[in-house]
Amino acid sequence: MCGIVGYIGPREAYPIIIEGLKRLEYRGYDSAGIALFDGSELKVCKTKGKVVDLEAKLYKEISSNGSIGIGHTRWATHGVPNDVNSHPHYSNSGNLVIIHNGIIENYDALRKELIKRGYVFKSDTDTEVLVNLIEEVKKQEDVKLGKAVQIALNQVVGAYAIAVFDKTQPNEIVIARLGSPLAIGVGKDEFFIASDASPFLEYTKNAIYLEDEEMAIIRLNKDIKIRKIKDDSLVDPYVQALKMNLDQIEKGGFEHFMLKEIYEQPRAITDTYRGRLNREEAIIKMSSVEDNMKKFLAADRIIIVACGTSWHAGLVAEYIFEDLARIPVEVEYASEFRYRNPIITEKDVVIAISQSGETADTLAAIKLAKSKGAFVFGVCNVVGSSIARETHAGAYTHAGPEIGVASTKAFTTQITVLSLIALRLARAKGTISSSDFRQHLLEFEMIPKKVEKALEADEHIKKIANIYKDVHNFLYLGRGYNFPVALEGALKLKEISYIHAEGYPAAEMKHGPIALIDENMPIVVIATKKGHYEKVVSNIQEIKSRKGKIIGIVTEGDVDVRALADHVIEVPETLEFLSPLLTTIPLQLLSYHIAVLLGKNVDQPRNLAKSVTVE
Ligand code: M6R
Repeated sequence: MCGIVGYIGPREAYPIIIEGLKRLEYRGYDSAGIALFDGSELKVCKTKGKVVDLEAKLYKEISSNGSIGIGHTRWATHGVPNDVNSHPHYSNSGNLVIIHNGIIENYDALRKELIKRGYVFKSDTDTEVLVNLIEEVKKQEDVKLGKAVQIALNQVVGAYAIAVFDKTQPNEIVIARLGSPLAIGVGKDEFFIASDASPFLEYTKNAIYLEDEEMAIIRLNKDIKIRKIKDDSLVDPYVQALKMNLDQIEKGGFEHFMLKEIYEQPRAITDTYRGRLNREEAIIKMSSVEDNMKKFLAADRIIIVACGTSWHAGLVAEYIFEDLARIPVEVEYASEFRYRNPIITEKDVVIAISQSGETADTLAAIKLAKSKGAFVFGVCNVVGSSIARETHAGAYTHAGPEIGVASTKAFTTQITVLSLIALRLARAKGTISSSDFRQHLLEFEMIPKKVEKALEADEHIKKIANIYKDVHNFLYLGRGYNFPVALEGALKLKEISYIHAEGYPAAEMKHGPIALIDENMPIVVIATKKGHYEKVVSNIQEIKSRKGKIIGIVTEGDVDVRALADHVIEVPETLEFLSPLLTTIPLQLLSYHIAVLLGKNVDQPRNLAKSVTVE
């Protein structure tokens, strides 16, 4: 939930760390801080607010620079966001500084013990406890920083990615991870440390991803030593060549990352099915599915675990798998699944969906499913992420980096991957005829063009956004495949505009939400031609007679809904199972424009973080 950056090498550390923190702000942005060592003095500067606020403060407070440093952008867990609780945190002696992403669950007991030994705490954070624990171990055991970190971490319960610097051993930074990501960029005579590779991409494409329960001692002009935290065994560093480039993580002329990512969807969907869908030969080929075909075909059921938008993609997949492949599917919030003693057997296939691949609840659900013997398949966007590595097999979404906190292209590419898997299984099971299969592939290939067409409604949607931007509530209704899209539309609006919104199956409206409808209530109804169209038109009639304001998402050329609705937004016609890939687009744009018109921070909405690595 927090972003970590570090540098050790011949360059000035400050610009590398500041620019790196800006790229990691999607991970948390309620406060930021930096520690720089200039060869003699260790300077720390931190502040509530964003990295730009840190820059302004730094300008006043720190004149000298240095070529070793660590920086942090925070999403608060323990302690409100303020200057004192911001990272880095000093140890009591002032020799050690630490930055931390994660939660130390037994921090209270450790804190009490340290207080008994005379330690004083300035902040409310678990992190300050950890840095003082390391200091205490160093003193008691008379060991170097690396060893002290290792001993201290063996006393800690919780999750962490940390970077620690000790001014009495100024040629090294010690890092460690358990449950929170950490990458090392390997340059010539220099090393970069970061929560993901984006801060060091312009300097090096060589990266080492630390595994859980590993730590590394990174020394100036020396090799990296990676060890297992528990048993001290040495690990051979595996240096990967990254394929990502800088353009992919910049705004490319768009006002916001979210808008850029909405517009990237035709390309992202194409990238996701490219090489997997072959229309000429009428095949879908995904090696991870082929390799595990027996497990998929023998499965009693598929259990999908995910959170947030990924959970909505899972709901869409439930309709697709059951409809096309006739495999029973259950979709679970990962956070609930892990705590309710679920019945999982070796005959279950669990699919975990996650854009970041780092979501703590999803990761825990995977571990639980694996412990019960289930085969676990991951659908992730971030290559090499924890979930991608923890699952038995998986398929990447190839959406490219998603920086906007509100998930957009991750959703449509997740649906793309899951649809491909469902179609492949349907073919293998014989639940789809070869002519239908061919027709489905043909239509699939037309989706990117149709998404482009749906994006053409942008200006029209902006006008609708302007009419409704000041309301306090929204309802979203959809049926079948488009019920999860209604949930997703409501989530998008809530998280970036802070307008209360709820999604419902259209027919459920009469069982309660209808009471909310009056002339002030806008209701977005997904009413595309395929999929219970007449029933949805009846629901629209019911809204109309209660004076609700209707924004219909309709198929091109629609007449019936147009006659009833206050506004319609057209999307091209497609097969029903592919329709969420189109109906989602106007809902993303509607929430985007409302949030912009309200002056909200679209890419970094309050209280949220892109990657939720805490429970
Ligand atoms: O990285 P994940 O897909 O596992 O993240 C899950 C949710 O935290 C995420 O989808 C969240 O709901 C987004 N802010 C939605 O836009």
